[in-house]
Amino acid sequence: MENFTYQCGTKIIFGKGTENQVGIETAKHGQKALLHYGSGSIKKTGLYDKVIASLKEAGVSYVELGGVVPNPRLELVHKGIELCRRENVDFILAVGGGSVIDSAKAIACGVFYEGDVWDFFTKGYEITKALPIGTVLTIPAAGSEASPNSVISHGTRKLPIGAQALRPVFSILDPELNFTLPKNQTAAGVADMMAHIFERYFTNTRSVDLTDKLCEATLRSIIKNTRIVMQKPDDYDARAEILWASTIAHCGILGTGRVEDWATHRIEHELSAFYDITHGDGLAVIFPAWMKHVHQHDPKRFEQFARDVWGITGEDAGIKGIEATRSFFREIGLPTSLKDLNIGPEKFEEMARMATLNGPLGSFVKITKEDVIRIFSIAS
Ligand code: NZQ
Ligand code: ZN
Repeated sequence: MENFTYQCGTKIIFGKGTENQVGIETAKHGQKALLHYGSGSIKKTGLYDKVIASLKEAGVSYVELGGVVPNPRLELVHKGIELCRRENVDFILAVGGGSVIDSAKAIACGVFYEGDVWDFFTKGYEITKALPIGTVLTIPAAGSEASPNSVISHGTRKLPIGAQALRPVFSILDPELNFTLPKNQTAAGVADMMAHIFERYFTNTRSVDLTDKLCEATLRSIIKNTRIVMQKPDDYDARAEILWASTIAHCGILGTGRVEDWATHRIEHELSAFYDITHGDGLAVIFPAWMKHVHQHDPKRFEQFARDVWGITGEDAGIKGIEATRSFFREIGLPTSLKDLNIGPEKFEEMARMATLNGPLGSFVKITKEDVIRIFSIAS
């Protein structure tokens, strides 16, 4: 096991009706909030009204900025920064999914930076200060509710940042808020949280038995409960299991003591940047292809994955485990090839070049530009 420091300071408030606590929690950190949200789902579901009522009751004033889109855009981040400065906002409340939370994080650090916040993404400047952020999460997927990361799109670039200062101070997780998710969003979220576990599970670090078992158990729980919510979207207990799994998958605990990979996420981000596809859809296509590409590097790990996640043993179990992953994605309605996403080979070369601009990707196996093109071909 590797040495590690683990600190996730996000207070998780989980369960039915917990969104009504948002005013009280916000009041502990700020007096004037930026209420940040997406393209309207929170208004349709009634969550917006509940949040406003709770803020008012707690005496928190607020200004609003809606309109965050999936693959959140830098332009809105700029708007948010200006608004926060003009209105002396001291807290950002993100109500929505990973896109809203990521946009909130970029605004939170941009407020204190004199240059363009995009510098943090392109130049790797260290982020030491950010406005505090709270979230009411409406879709289990990205794990941004407890992660130190934000991913923002600009032109055909989609880039991440990470800093402890960006971890939300609190996140409110009510499984009932997930009842309204369309099947394709539920499925894309599931692919994303499974991918967050795969990125940690496929490691060269030895003696990581505890985190291996935590990864496998979390994956099994996601698979089992996804099958339930696909039939019954308002099954509270199954939604609760998936919601908590999404946070566990990406809050960092499953990666403790292990060298993580992240090549597949970098490759997917190019697909999202060039084609504006849903992150989870891209991962459902790329992850099985990456697995096939690297399988020979450590067949035993793939055998363990097949046995302890999918219950597959015997001849060619490792390869069958990869196939089971792909079949599961197909079963829940996700795309499983680039063809399903209407993506041809035209931009393989350019996307591979952008993905590897700073050198080879990943650590389980070093992925070069040529490897990325090969993975795209396997995924075609
Ligand atoms: O915009 P609204 O109207 O709210 O609709 C959203 C959006 O269209 C809808 N939705 C959310 N909750 C709903 C709902 N519809 C009905 N009922 C609800 N309860 O779902 C759509 C997708 O929302 P989005 O926020 O884009 O989804 P997700 O949470 O999957 O976030 C994806 C983004 O997170 C990034 C991805 O790259 C992508 O840009 N990631 C962020 C990470 C992080 N910060 O740690 C890590 C991840 O690997 C990922 O890269
Ligand atoms: Zn992801």
